[in-house]
Amino acid sequence: MIARWLEARRDGREQPPQEIAAFVRGVVDGSVTRAQAAAWLAFVQCRGMSAAETVALTLAMADSGARLEWTGLTGPFVDKHSTGGVGDKVSLVLAPLWAALGRKVPMLSGRGLGITGGTLDKLEAIPGFRTDLDAAALRRALGAAGCFISGQTSELAPADRILYALRNETQTVPSIPLITASILSKKLVEGIEHLVLDVKCGSGAFMQTEAEARALAESLQRVGAGAGLRTQAHVTDMSQPLGEAVGNALEVEEAVACLQGAGPRALRALVVQLSGAGADAEQALDGGAALERWRRMLRAQDGDPDAPLRGAGCRREVLLAESAGTVTRCDAGAVGRAAFVLGAGRAREQDRVHPGVGVLVHAHRGDRVQRGQPLLTLVHDRKGLEEARRLARDAVAIA
Ligand code: URA
Repeated sequence: MIARWLEARRDGREQPPQEIAAFVRGVVDGSVTRAQAAAWLAFVQCRGMSAAETVALTLAMADSGARLEWTGLTGPFVDKHSTGGVGDKVSLVLAPLWAALGRKVPMLSGRGLGITGGTLDKLEAIPGFRTDLDAAALRRALGAAGCFISGQTSELAPADRILYALRNETQTVPSIPLITASILSKKLVEGIEHLVLDVKCGSGAFMQTEAEARALAESLQRVGAGAGLRTQAHVTDMSQPLGEAVGNALEVEEAVACLQGAGPRALRALVVQLSGAGADAEQALDGGAALERWRRMLRAQDGDPDAPLRGAGCRREVLLAESAGTVTRCDAGAVGRAAFVLGAGRAREQDRVHPGVGVLVHAHRGDRVQRGQPLLTLVHDRKGLEEARRLARDAVAIA
């Protein structure tokens, strides 16, 4: 049977939903070998998959483990997923903001890999904050704060963990149907009704061109609808870092500034856009309601909202403009790599990140600068400083 499924995929024939579901069950229970699963993934990578097949794969992956359910709590239950970028701390602001507006936000999030930061790594800069809540603790946190941000537990979508690890080993990560099923299966198990998708596009993102980002956004919307999830996709800029802070504790500080009604305009604008709540969102940020939810969420997850963040005491080195002019490029990929070599990111899943290091971006594309004006600050503990300096210098162009 498995041989027939592989032949169908190899020859590009449509697989019925029950066959895809049986394949996913076999991946989890081990009756499909890792070699067979890897071949299946490679055929999908090369020959693609129809939207109907991708819906079937998404549902089968979501059903490969438990699903969270929120009976007894009042919705609407919503979440946001970003495909990841440099300085993207939107989740830290949007979850409590939506909670302040009466939504419930059961947000399961991930860790950073490569130059892309991870929401859990950022939150772990807060002393005591726990990102490993079990189902009972998730429910308590959602009831108490209206939102939580925690890690995926091992019972949720186990098929995605197995398939994702195989994709990493077999160069089959960049397949739109596989990315779509991976993202949506993990969101379906959250028990949400509505998902906002932020598909990042540019040098600091997974999708580097607008065409690729649009293709992924369309696939996520189409397959989301087929899987019973209302989605709204936005394609947003990741050619330069979002806001000023890149690095774990630095980004938490900036997110708190936004929750206090301050912080960079670009961050606030994107938060308000993704919230879909316009003036109500502005009011919740300026009036303190979102900040109050943030403090509740931290307490519900054992974090201390008043404690100094971890990783304090790093050194700072400011890079200055060598000439006056207009900033024509502030490359997200290069800034992300600079923060990464300073220790803010991880190369492998098991690596630890430094909570305190990173880069502060003082000038974005279109800004006018004078000679000697600060462009970037490297926040470091000496590790990787020389390479970060080189990357940071090349990241910014002035004309
Ligand atoms: N993020 C995911 O969760 N899955 C993918 O396949 C790619 C990015």
